[in-house]
Amino acid sequence: MDQFSQAILPLVSILVVISSICYFKWLSKSAAKFPPGPWGVPILGYLPFIGADMLHKFSQLASKYGEIYMLRLGNKLCVVINSPSLVKEVVRDQDNVFSNRSPPVAGFIVSYGAKDMVWSPNNSEWRALRKISSREMLNNRSLELSYNLRKNEVRKAIRRVYKNGKAAVEINVLAFQTELNVITSLLWGELLQGEEEEIIGKKFRGVVPKLIDLIGKPNISDFYPFLAGLDIQGIKRQMESYWRTIDTILDDVIEKHKKKLSKGVMEVGRKDFLQILLEFKEKDKDSISDTQLKALMLDIVAGGTDTSATTMEWAMAELMNNPIIMEKAQKELSEVVGLDNIVEEHHLPKLKYLDAVVKETLRLHPAVPLLVPRSPSQSSIVGGYTIPKNTTVFINVAYIQKDPRFWDNPREFKPERFLGGEYDFSGNSFKFLPFGSGRRICVGLPLGERMVMYFLASLVHSFDWKLPNDQKLDMSEEFGMMLRKSVPLVAIPNPRLFDSKLYM
Ligand code: HEM
Repeated sequence: MDQFSQAILPLVSILVVISSICYFKWLSKSAAKFPPGPWGVPILGYLPFIGADMLHKFSQLASKYGEIYMLRLGNKLCVVINSPSLVKEVVRDQDNVFSNRSPPVAGFIVSYGAKDMVWSPNNSEWRALRKISSREMLNNRSLELSYNLRKNEVRKAIRRVYKNGKAAVEINVLAFQTELNVITSLLWGELLQGEEEEIIGKKFRGVVPKLIDLIGKPNISDFYPFLAGLDIQGIKRQMESYWRTIDTILDDVIEKHKKKLSKGVMEVGRKDFLQILLEFKEKDKDSISDTQLKALMLDIVAGGTDTSATTMEWAMAELMNNPIIMEKAQKELSEVVGLDNIVEEHHLPKLKYLDAVVKETLRLHPAVPLLVPRSPSQSSIVGGYTIPKNTTVFINVAYIQKDPRFWDNPREFKPERFLGGEYDFSGNSFKFLPFGSGRRICVGLPLGERMVMYFLASLVHSFDWKLPNDQKLDMSEEFGMMLRKSVPLVAIPNPRLFDSKLYM
């Protein structure tokens, strides 16, 4: 231990003790009725018992304490919601109050100080960012106009797999790359080409999943804000380094785009999102700041790629793990699309069984299992209990979507349960909300849903898949902010279409 740490440690310990005593006094004196929950130990609260798999622990506690419970992690007060009726109270009845966020240190850095969409509080700037993103890029009408761009990328992926013959494919890598190319094309079109595009793609692929994992990592600076300056685990330093990598890319892209715009060489047809934002800024300088512009682009790249790629990987893994279901999905594709044809987006609404496969995948493996935590802007009542202002509120979607009170044989992968058309992704059913719900619902839902369906349909229609050396599939999960597959899915393709030209 260095001299500085030796000197600071007693002071830190005293501060921790004082703040914990204040907290316990406040809790016991308060007349309010708080949710039940585990007490933990003085100073640390429940922190020593939470373990590495917070999602598993949260679900265990839900079985013990029920629909809602409260726990203290260090100095941070957390509430976990575990039932559809209480989700409704939060995301529908009191949506305005609970649409605030309280970003962790890592989230605050990566969002340029909560200037983005994911971590911004519920304010007029956040509303403006959401409005322009959905109106200009992510709504169904704009997405229909940009279909060719998605088609190019999905066809590129299929072609690459075909050309590599029987070489094993790492599904997440392929899915991530395809989704990233789609998103960056939507954002800045053909601005980057060839080698430059490759290098930037590689950097994003290297950084984005790490950056998301770092946000989900328990951080002493979040549990004891007065220790944040010490950055004991080095999370702040690490995040700043990832953020700098992306910030440099974004600066470069914006500069290039501005130059192109000033030379008047922009496309006259469909404008890319960055062009729209820059023109918007040109008309009204106060409409969006340079920082917000970069924060928004980072959100879209980080929010869209890893979530979609992880979902595509889980869907493929479930299909390969359940050969009868795979057969049914392929039969539907043969009937709707035909083996003498390629999948197009206009086929998607007719692929009812595949749609049920995607929904069942997101029920069992929600990409963001606790949603992005909310934080009430004022003290509120949920389920008859008081939730103090600024509490971190988790909605345990992973638990609700496997609760046997609402789902028959909840651990079984059974797409048929979604064939009745009772559920969609709109967040209106509080039993099934993999994209969240209310005013904070995923802004990229129209693109995420389309891309997962289109990519999955193309993979399963174009190839039969098997595991290398007839290995057994490992379906274990790894919890972070995202629910990943612990062992990446690697599979061998075997072409199933009639004509090799359909792969070109
Ligand atoms: C399968 C794909 C996806 C899944 C499962 C998913 C899931 C989610 C979830 C659960 C949330 C939090 C909602 C809440 O707190 O209620 C969210 C928020 C968000 N997502 Fe997605 N997402 C996906 C794709 C995308 C895509 C393609 C984009 C961008 C193009 C995107 C951008 C965002 C953004 C910016 C937010 C923050 C919205 C806000 O706080 O206002 N997501 N997503």
